[in-house]
Amino acid sequence: MEVITEVDQMVEWVRECRAPRVLVPTMGALHEGHLSLCRAARDRAGEAGVVVATIFVNPTQFGPNEDLDAYPRQLAADLAACEAVGVDVVFAPQAGDVYASDASVSISEATLALGLCGGSRPGHFDGVCTVVAKLFNLTQPVAAVFGEKDYQQLAVIRRMVRDLNFPIEIVPGPTVREADGLAMSSRNAYLTPSQRQAAPGIQQAMVALREEIAAGKYEDSPSTAVEALEGRLEQVAGSESRVDYVALVHPDTLQPLESFWEDGELRYRLIVAVFVGKTRLIDNIGAN
Ligand code: PAJ
Repeated sequence: MEVITEVDQMVEWVRECRAPRVLVPTMGALHEGHLSLCRAARDRAGEAGVVVATIFVNPTQFGPNEDLDAYPRQLAADLAACEAVGVDVVFAPQAGDVYASDASVSISEATLALGLCGGSRPGHFDGVCTVVAKLFNLTQPVAAVFGEKDYQQLAVIRRMVRDLNFPIEIVPGPTVREADGLAMSSRNAYLTPSQRQAAPGIQQAMVALREEIAAGKYEDSPSTAVEALEGRLEQVAGSESRVDYVALVHPDTLQPLESFWEDGELRYRLIVAVFVGKTRLIDNIGAN
């Protein structure tokens, strides 16, 4: 496995590389969720292709009061994990090399990025789109793998690829969970033992709501279901939990749902963000 830490080196490497590349962008502190995407990339790349993983804690997607400085960094362990799942190249640049100090161009998605996490984290998806576009340009992949854990991010990236004609296939990867159901996240490391114990309650409450919706409890009123879940999630870690948002949206448009049903089938995405202590956890599930 090759490790590239400089932008110029990456450009040079891509210029020489004849094999099709499959990209997995990450911010490091790799867990099984990230590694499942690397395995999917390995499958997609096949014998002839090359898997490129990037490890870069992107400053432009963090707000001024967010956890940029605290974000876990563990490059040596990450490199070993990448090697073990068959990554061929890791690109791990420094922020000062990726962004000119007077950078003045960024990418902004103006529809899907507005609500949900975009509402709570202004500018977040501009930072994500900009860095992902830069990584696409630097690595020029045929395909890139993104997790459904960040459902809105996946939708925003698909839209950017469509609207800017990036010739790149976006491959989604399912959310990988801990044995108790908590969605894996680098931020789970911030939880205290008691918060960690309570956190699986988020997914349990979501799954319970899905079952109630299917059983007709909320008839066809998504807003009533949202209110019910908000109440339960407020209690999930006692006084330590606070709901950022709960949303039932259309899975493609991310617009608030008017009906649970489409063409005779249950169709929606349930997306939540909950603070447990100071840690903001996100999760989402589909209708089935
Ligand atoms: P990061 O949070 O490190 O996530 C990197 C990729 O791993 C994303 O596609 C994310 O959706 C996926 N992922 C995270 N947890 C997962 C889980 N439990 N199961 C499956 N996939 C999971 O997302 C980012 O970094 C950044 O915004 C990035 C796209 C790298 C741009 O900076």
